[in-house]
Amino acid sequence: MADLDFRGKTVLVVGGSSGIGNGIAQAFRARGADVHVWGTRPHAADYSVAEGSDLAGLHYTALDASDAAAVDGYEPPFAALDVLVLCQGTVRYRREEFTRAGFERVVEVNLHSVMACALRFRGLLAASRGALITVSSVAGYGANIGNPAYAASKAGVISLTRTLAAAWAADGIRVNGIAPGLVDTKLTQVTTAHPERLQRALAGIPARRLGTPADMAGAVLFLASPLAAYVCGQTLRVDGGLGLQA
Ligand SMILES: NC(=O)c1ccc[n+]([C@@H]2O[C@H](COP(=O)([O-])OP(=O)(O)OC[C@H]3O[C@@H](n4cnc5c(N)ncnc54)[C@H](OP(=O)(O)O)[C@@H]3O)[C@@H](O)[C@H]2O)c1
Repeated sequence: MADLDFRGKTVLVVGGSSGIGNGIAQAFRARGADVHVWGTRPHAADYSVAEGSDLAGLHYTALDASDAAAVDGYEPPFAALDVLVLCQGTVRYRREEFTRAGFERVVEVNLHSVMACALRFRGLLAASRGALITVSSVAGYGANIGNPAYAASKAGVISLTRTLAAAWAADGIRVNGIAPGLVDTKLTQVTTAHPERLQRALAGIPARRLGTPADMAGAVLFLASPLAAYVCGQTLRVDGGLGLQA
């Protein structure tokens, strides 16, 4: 379908080294885009397919997106950027997010770095009349009893998506996002690797299965495409119906 043909387009997926972001990156590559990804490990060879990372055909850069100076100082190897996907994210368990240090670290990675990356690439996105797509979480819509920083940071990303959309629409940049439900990645092994926790989680998902990175990629491709030309500031829940039941 021509609207989902990304040949000739350049895409950067921050957090594209693993899990959901990696699935998004490979989906753009499969549709012809030249795709760059950022992750935190020194080299592409430090990732493996067994862990949910397929870096084949992607341009990898090691860059800590929570380091604002590094983001500001990044010299892109591309002259134009059509799509920026901000998928970086982290979470801390065992009450760590109830400590100041734990809370602040998660907010730095999940929220502050999103703004830093958006600002860094605003000029290139405006030049191409491009799309910026955030990856928040359904956790941003409600309470998350063990993870105050994760929930607050994701609520912040949903809010930022609205505000940047309103502020930058006049530059020709469309800003939207997805809010994934429960997706099988290294981030969620704390649930998925435990059969009882997994069964409890599945019972709350009307689709009765976990989401996949490919499920998330479908929504992102739509939001990045001309099919979504008049969609602005929206965060699309991609969650198998999680949270539909009162
Ligand atoms: N899995 C779910 O159920 C779920 C649900 C809702 C939302 N999400 C969101 O989806 C996004 C992707 O998560 P995932 O589940 O795919 O987990 P994942 O496999 O751990 O992916 C997280 C990605 O973020 C990158 N990252 C983390 N800290 C970074 C930093 N400081 N600078 C640059 N990159 C950084 C990671 O790079 P390295 O691997 O190199 O460290 C990795 O590429 C996150 O924003 C997460 O909050 C996930």
